[in-house]
Amino acid sequence: MMMDSCTLVAPAKINLYLEIIGDRPDGYHELVMVMQSIGVADRVELKALGIDTFRVHCSHPLVPTDTSNLAYRAAQLMAQQFPAAFENWGGAEITIDKQIPVAAGLAGGSTDAAAVLLGLDLMWNLGLTLPELQELGATLGSDVPFCLSGGTALATGRGEKISPLSSLSGTFLVLGKFRSLQVSTPWAYQTFRQEFGKDYVGDASGLEARQHRVHSGPMVSAIQHHDVGKIAEHLYNDLERVVLAAHPPVSQLREVFRSSGALGAIMSGSGPSVFAIAESQEKAIQIRDAARSAIPDPDLELWVTQFATTGVQAVGRG
Ligand code: C5P
Repeated sequence: MMMDSCTLVAPAKINLYLEIIGDRPDGYHELVMVMQSIGVADRVELKALGIDTFRVHCSHPLVPTDTSNLAYRAAQLMAQQFPAAFENWGGAEITIDKQIPVAAGLAGGSTDAAAVLLGLDLMWNLGLTLPELQELGATLGSDVPFCLSGGTALATGRGEKISPLSSLSGTFLVLGKFRSLQVSTPWAYQTFRQEFGKDYVGDASGLEARQHRVHSGPMVSAIQHHDVGKIAEHLYNDLERVVLAAHPPVSQLREVFRSSGALGAIMSGSGPSVFAIAESQEKAIQIRDAARSAIPDPDLELWVTQFATTGVQAVGRG
């Protein structure tokens, strides 16, 4: 049966842990991360067009709607990989309702691309497995495989190798982002390499030892024990070393979160969004209000949200 439309929810992610270990022959970095889906999410709607083309719509001024959009590239990849299905069912109109801040370290573009992969898999009746979708997703961007499975996971390699961890539901956080501030991910990694590349691990056994250290370390153990206090205590992000120095307001926001009763607060991914882990929803609201009073700048956007247990999901089909 032909499906005419598919609506998906595409959650953002934060990094509870991000360690840069070394260089890779492909020019990327070897990472060890703990990724967490959150309740702030885009809505992505696919509508069959009946002709062999894709169109992207998004009302956010910073999201391109041309071929550089990662969601568009996801659709093109599906058409190229499954030419018979594309010929049979045609392309789609892709409408992105952008709720996730752009260029914020929250995988907003990657999660939209993940939604398009899953949406076309469903609309074209391909029956792809999660690992198959993740393998396709890895060719689009390092965060796409995580966005497909979501929840709480350890990510290694470029960030595309995912091992699920026990899921953490009911944990509240406050997310903050200065609306006019964007950080380029390539800039953050390149600057990190220039400043700290001399300390990179160069050999395979060294890499493995660093991965093992995280795998058997306090963050993963805190997650296994659902110990939110310990998780907050062990939050870590190497990219803070370059991004906070370049953007003092981001550093200030992190300090305000920390002094307003957060269990812990750090920058997510390549920033500049910052999140604070709270003991309860009530505490999260208090922290948000305290941050609002301390930084009355209308450019600062704040959200109270929760950890989410899933990645992209279809919520409606027609
Ligand atoms: O994979 P993605 O397109 O999201 O990566 C964006 C940029 O971030 C890359 O071009 C690279 O500069 C940097 N990056 C990296 N190492 C990774 C992931 C990303 O250096 N593991």
